Amino acid sequence: QMSDAELVAGIQRLKQEKDIVVLAHFYVQDEIQDVADHIGDSYQLAKLAQTTPQQTICFCGVNFMGESAKILSPGKQIIMPDINAGCPMADMITIDEIERVKAQYDDLAVVAYVNTTAETKAHSDVCVTSSNCLEIVRSLPQKNIYFIPDINLGSYIKSQVPEKNVILHDGFCCVHHKIRVAAVQEMIAANPDYKVLVHPEAQAEVVALGDVVGSTKVLLDEVKKNDAPGYIVCTEVGILHQMRKAAPGKEFLVPTRTQTCRSMKRNTLQKLYDAMDTMTPEIMMDEELMQQALRPLEKMMELSL
Ligand code: 13P
Ligand code: SF4
Repeated sequence: QMSDAELVAGIQRLKQEKDIVVLAHFYVQDEIQDVADHIGDSYQLAKLAQTTPQQTICFCGVNFMGESAKILSPGKQIIMPDINAGCPMADMITIDEIERVKAQYDDLAVVAYVNTTAETKAHSDVCVTSSNCLEIVRSLPQKNIYFIPDINLGSYIKSQVPEKNVILHDGFCCVHHKIRVAAVQEMIAANPDYKVLVHPEAQAEVVALGDVVGSTKVLLDEVKKNDAPGYIVCTEVGILHQMRKAAPGKEFLVPTRTQTCRSMKRNTLQKLYDAMDTMTPEIMMDEELMQQALRPLEKMMELSL
């Protein structure tokens, strides 16, 4: 049994010995964020996975992130501390549902949130993340947009891009969906000068209360301005680690107790060390599926400049 300090030292040593870059999403536990080479939102991490010179990436996040990295950089070796850390939202849409809506419209683009399986991506026209969804949907030539699977991010896009007919699916992220509007309102009433930061995976009533609405990076960038006495944070609590570093001494309030993603928390220092030590588990995917899922991911990269 190694202590946390020994694990961290071991991880740093393995990075050097094996030329591995460690990428971590803002929602993983603090200790992993601190040992990672880069931390970021979904889009930043996908881009970094493509551009980083190292041929081996250890991806601390959920498995659709590792898969997207593999699809975009098939020549690289992608390992993950826990390959079974999955985003429940990714399993909320079926291919049948996509094909049924496709059959109903001539002028339709299927826009898939990156929080989807490779198979779903293979049946979609373009992928988006919460940081590029508005610009990408606006730029598409099609009038009808089938946005899958997040009903909340879809509703947000619908409200911001009224010139499109956005057709919604009924998926959701339980971490964000369960943030209660009444709890947020109470906090605002008690702290009227605090800024309200909302991820668009939250319900529309909560999004409507946001002073800033955006991806984890956008919310963190707002805190970096450090111009409010405190913040009401309506997203997953992992982001607090970087927010507290960005604005030390400020108060960060979290409206509900369920703002923790269990999948992200499956990443531990021990599993990170073991993955780098053994170079497993590694993301392995069917060649044909990878090629089909590459098209919408590449289109996202092209359109989000
Ligand atoms: P972003 O980091 O892109 O905002 O995504 C949030 C999320 O829920 C990732 O699973
Ligand atoms: Fe999925 Fe939500 Fe967890 Fe992100 S926070 S991985 S969307 S369940």
